[in-house]
Amino acid sequence: MRVVGTVAELREWSRGVRQAGGAVGLVPTMGALHEGHLSLVREAERRGDRVAVSVFVNPTQFGPGEDFERYPRTFEADCAMLEREGVEVVFAPGVGEMYPAGAAATFVEVAGLSDRLDGASRPGHFRGVATVVTKLFAASEPERAYFGQKDAAQVAVLRRMVADLLLPVDLVVCPIVREADGLAMSSRNRYLSAEERGRALALSRAVRAGEAAFRAGERGAERVADAARRELESAPGVRVDYVAVVDWATLEPVERVEAGCLLAVAAWVGQTRLLDNAILG
Ligand code: PAF
Repeated sequence: MRVVGTVAELREWSRGVRQAGGAVGLVPTMGALHEGHLSLVREAERRGDRVAVSVFVNPTQFGPGEDFERYPRTFEADCAMLEREGVEVVFAPGVGEMYPAGAAATFVEVAGLSDRLDGASRPGHFRGVATVVTKLFAASEPERAYFGQKDAAQVAVLRRMVADLLLPVDLVVCPIVREADGLAMSSRNRYLSAEERGRALALSRAVRAGEAAFRAGERGAERVADAARRELESAPGVRVDYVAVVDWATLEPVERVEAGCLLAVAAWVGQTRLLDNAILG
């Protein structure tokens, strides 16, 4: 496994893969890897891609007062995990490599979608994500790129970006990977104290309650959302950010739930904001 820090090295590797008749699969990450990230790597390998993983804590997707500085950085452990998975290249650029002119003048903004769900709570977040993912695509020229469904609003934003900009990359979305007790895996779970870790189970319970209402025949979006919200609101130490039932493509609220709608929840457990979701039906 090679660790490269420059766009030039990554691009050279990627072009070599293509010249040899291979396909590049990119797994973009911010490091602090867990089984959820590894499931993306394994899916890329299952499809026969030669895999590059980027590890870059992207400053432009963090707002003022968010956790950019204290975001977990576990690069050596990340590399050990990726090596075991048979990853070919880890792209770990410095901030200056990704933003060579300092404060960038050029951004990718997916209007509308970027202001919904997490974008409503974290203004500018999806502009930072769309911008850095565009740069990672430009640097690695992948055939496919792999993202987790856990960040469902991010997936919607990036799908729309790829469609609007005619980017020649297929997005592959992989299911949420959960701990044995149901907690969706997230790099931010590391922030939780033992007590908060228990409280955080309210998110997966909320999603299951919404799914159960849907399975029992409920098609009113508000009532499906209420079933989920009740779980969050009755949990001590949990503060709801949003509970939403939306069209997954547009992130617009729906009135009637159809199969394929997204039930998404976000909540604060102490100082940590966590997400969970399900595709209904
Ligand atoms: O999902 C993430 O970890 C990040 O938002 C991403 C896609 C790597 C962009 O920084």
